Amino acid sequence: MTNSDALSASGAASDAPRIHVVTGSASGIGLATKQLLESQGHRVIGVDLRDADVIADLSTPEGRTALVDRVTELSGGGIDAILAVAGVDIAGPATVAINYYGAIATMEGLRPLLLASPAPRVVAVSSITSVHPFDQRLLDIMLDGTEEEALSRAAVAGQVYATTKRALSRWIRRRAVHPEWAGAGIPLNAVAPGLVRTELLKRLFEDQETKRRIEAGSPMPLGGPYEPVAAAELLAWLTSEKNGHMTGQTIFLDGGADVVLRGDSTW
Ligand code: NAI
Repeated sequence: MTNSDALSASGAASDAPRIHVVTGSASGIGLATKQLLESQGHRVIGVDLRDADVIADLSTPEGRTALVDRVTELSGGGIDAILAVAGVDIAGPATVAINYYGAIATMEGLRPLLLASPAPRVVAVSSITSVHPFDQRLLDIMLDGTEEEALSRAAVAGQVYATTKRALSRWIRRRAVHPEWAGAGIPLNAVAPGLVRTELLKRLFEDQETKRRIEAGSPMPLGGPYEPVAAAELLAWLTSEKNGHMTGQTIFLDGGADVVLRGDSTW
């Protein structure tokens, strides 16, 4: 047995180059994650509306099909990790189509390409808003109804962004232990950032009242808003060979916001 055989037999990570698919790779957290993974020697297939290896609008059926077709082509049919990062915070149906259905289509659509990997991993980006007030009806539809029904509810519902992130974390928690994920050896998790200095936040902060509301909704006693590379570090670890045992979790990377908002309520 060689040294590296002995290491993998003992479950230690090898740091061998891997192929990661990152959506939302043209900006913010997705871009920082792509850059970090590449600096670690991995290959990244970036997916976005622009400036990416795969140009696809994940809010549409055509874009989701193009994602799977192009990633299959570019990877030669095998990848090691999926990072569903793309998301928006704009009012109404588009947020549901991208943040929830786009993320799920990414994870489910690319899942078959993971099956030959020795260490397949999946992570999506949720949000601290996943514990904010939400629209119960929209949540129920996203979890049990159709996309069409969800889009029409989103046209009239409030708290749409928070509801998409709650639904995404719930979906991951429910699916992670199913045979097609845990049973196939695929850890499936989410990261829930607090406030991160990206284009998304910059746009929201242009309006002073919105800025005040967002800061009040995400109190971050440990350090306040942070740079996207901090989220990238956690996303990279969750999709590395090192994460062999954590699944179904939403990990709050939020400077303490979840603790301030929910207190003792979870334990
Ligand atoms: P960003 O705006 O800098 O980057 C988002 C990227 O997603 C952009 O490159 C954009 O073109 C892409 N994208 C948007 N719609 C798309 C579509 N239909 N198809 C394909 N790509 C699309 O934003 P940021 O902040 O980096 O956001 C990344 C994720 O982090 C999102 O899911 C967001 O909801 C989440 N998040 C961000 C927080 C923040 O404070 N910035 C806090 C909590 C969560």
